[in-house]
Amino acid sequence: MKILAFAGSNSKQSINKKLAVYAAGLYSEAKVDVIDVNDYPLPLFSVDIEKEIGFPDAAQAFLDKINSADFIVLSLAENNASYNVGFKNLFDWASRKNKHVFQNKPMLLMATSDGKRGAQSVLEFAAQSFPRYGAVVKATFSLPSFFQNFNEEDGITNPELKNQLLDKIKESIQ
Ligand SMILES: Cc1cc2nc3c(=O)[nH]c(=O)nc-3n(C[C@H](O)[C@H](O)[C@H](O)COP(=O)(O)O)c2cc1C
Repeated sequence: MKILAFAGSNSKQSINKKLAVYAAGLYSEAKVDVIDVNDYPLPLFSVDIEKEIGFPDAAQAFLDKINSADFIVLSLAENNASYNVGFKNLFDWASRKNKHVFQNKPMLLMATSDGKRGAQSVLEFAAQSFPRYGAVVKATFSLPSFFQNFNEEDGITNPELKNQLLDKIKESIQ
């Protein structure tokens, strides 16, 4: 199984990217391809810019990556209860070519933040809206208080939360 793992964040230190890479590594017999929103530089979307420049190669490259995957592991950053602007921009551009951005791929959809709610607002919103954009959301997982519950060497350090994620991973491939 070819997994495409990425964060809905344009932060170079993205905690969601760390979570996405970690979770993707827990799938057995998977080849993991990690991408980053920053690999797809795009102007801020507007219909006016679109008229000027057409459909950019970077947005096509993102759609092609999704097309080449069997499974998506995506972890969303929450900024003011919504998507990170870098992710939203890439998503909006991609949707102009193919409204079904996620191209009917199964998805483990996650979110984390440094706070206790673990970015649940954006996670809940995305879980209900992504299916309209072609995502087959198989399972969702929120990791609260990232810095208390995750470290670079061991991944998720809280046993209860780690078991929750392992259950979600199982659920996501059934
Ligand atoms: C502009 C801004 C708004 C934020 N809003 C929220 C929020 O609504 N909920 C939340 O849990 N964290 C919020 N945070 C904190 C982020 O969860 C934190 O920066 C986290 O590291 C973002 O994930 P990332 O590292 O993957 O980008 C916000 C951070 C910024 C910079």
